[in-house]
Amino acid sequence: MLICVCSLVVRYKQSHLVTARASVTVIHPDLGCLISCVQLQEFSIILLYAEEGHSPVGSVEARAASPFLQRCFFQLSDLGMDPVILLGGFAAFHTLYPFLCTSRMALLEPDRYALTIYPSEILEGELYQGSAAQASDYHILENLNITHVVNATAECPDAFPSTLSYLRLRLSDDAQQDLVEALPQAARFIAGALSSEVRGRVLVHCSMGRSRSSALTLAFLMQHQRWTLLHAIRWLKERRACTAPNVNFLRQLLTYEEQLFGRRLTSLDDIRL
Ligand SMILES: *[C@@H]1O[C@H](CO)[C@@H](O)[C@H](O)[C@H]1NC(C)=O
Ligand SMILES: *[C@@H]1O[C@H](CO)[C@@H](O)[C@H](O)[C@H]1NC(C)=O
Repeated sequence: MLICVCSLVVRYKQSHLVTARASVTVIHPDLGCLISCVQLQEFSIILLYAEEGHSPVGSVEARAASPFLQRCFFQLSDLGMDPVILLGGFAAFHTLYPFLCTSRMALLEPDRYALTIYPSEILEGELYQGSAAQASDYHILENLNITHVVNATAECPDAFPSTLSYLRLRLSDDAQQDLVEALPQAARFIAGALSSEVRGRVLVHCSMGRSRSSALTLAFLMQHQRWTLLHAIRWLKERRACTAPNVNFLRQLLTYEEQLFGRRLTSLDDIRL
């Protein structure tokens, strides 16, 4: 889960990121941090934002633009947290993702679990990775402007075949599944969808969006970004923390890396997840 801290209370009441809390419910000007470290550690990301602004933390401009945000940043850092500041602030986020903003509060656990969780953005405005449930939710696909879907499952129902282009691979997430054909096929399909002629947007999904879909996304990133497997995995993990291709898939990805680049650049020990 994500917690966001919004610095302007007035603005917060009008609209905020779905999981955001107003600054005063997290950091009080006099009392300091109002949430215990244990509670804060339950969040995978702590995102701070103000109305606008993206000056580097600690810079003179940033302190002038949003002194409160700066103070939050340093107070949370002192508590051992690793907060990040939203580039462009709320204005930039709202322009791109109005469907992830709300005027309602979701502070309690049940409210948070009721939220619609979106797929992870792996390449901005191009490539997304998620679960079968997300791939079956037309609002999500529509809001993200998804045009192409890679479906790596054998079990969940095919969602919108008449409106979107599908690649179906019917893979099993186990030690026997052979990816020799699937890896290049997925990479080719994604590259085609993102090409300058098509300019599509792709969602890669399996059941949970952890193992099978990660293997396919990684094959594409290695082949078309020319990234080593290690670099591709680090990139993917930063954007989708639950990424976890099974060991059988990792071994086949190592072989794929060797085929693509003529030699092995990553070792299995480097990428133990
Ligand atoms: C989806 O496409 C519309 C129309 O082109 C655009 O305004 C909107 O910003 C796009 N959404 C995202 C999330 O990129
Ligand atoms: C994925 O493919 C399977 C097997 O062909 C199909 O039954 C299922 O409907 C597809 N799932 C989605 C969400 O498109």
